Amino acid sequence: MRLFAAVDLAPPVRHAAADAAQRLARAVAEPGARGGPRVSWVREGNLHLTVRFLGEIEGGRAQVLAARFAEPLAGGAFDIELGGVGVFPPNGPPRVVWLGVTRGAERLAALAAGVDERLVLWGFGREDRPFQPHLTIGRCREPLGRGARDRILGADVGALGASRVDEVVLYESRLAAGGPTYVALARAPLSASGR
Ligand code: 2AM
Repeated sequence: MRLFAAVDLAPPVRHAAADAAQRLARAVAEPGARGGPRVSWVREGNLHLTVRFLGEIEGGRAQVLAARFAEPLAGGAFDIELGGVGVFPPNGPPRVVWLGVTRGAERLAALAAGVDERLVLWGFGREDRPFQPHLTIGRCREPLGRGARDRILGADVGALGASRVDEVVLYESRLAAGGPTYVALARAPLSASGR
């Protein structure tokens, strides 16, 4: 199964993020252009902040992981706020469009490191890329041109509200033609006293 660990957003913030994505979708559309959308915008129910992507994990091993994953994580709950638009890669034609984390980014990075550490303890490799807190809202079907990139980066999405982070969710990603479905397999609470 294809697994990843993520943080969910409070429904009003998730809704505000989906709204922002819709506004960006209009901004990115070429005036008078024909053809389908060049960006696949993440549907509201699928919006999440990935803290660690595990990739394909064999069924038995995934089951063992899911059973252990619910152990509380140290650090306690905290708030995050989203704002600002960015793209990956940062230079050149964008492939991913994201919203930034304007508050709580350091806590989120610490949480990602804690999740990573635990996964290493349990025999999964360490994430080798530095953690960049972001909420992916769009994936480009083809690299976007400079005009669309400028319109995206110039957009003002405003403040999207605060969201409480009080757990990390282990998700299975089921890929299908109509888009992925994310199934929660386990939830690790962030306890003030847990390890
Ligand atoms: P993203 O939102 O930061 O792009 C489920 O597929 C989640 O895992 C996605 O939301 C994506 O995070 C992340 N993901 C998918 N493929 C990945 C990869 N090859 N490397 C890192 N993260 C990946």
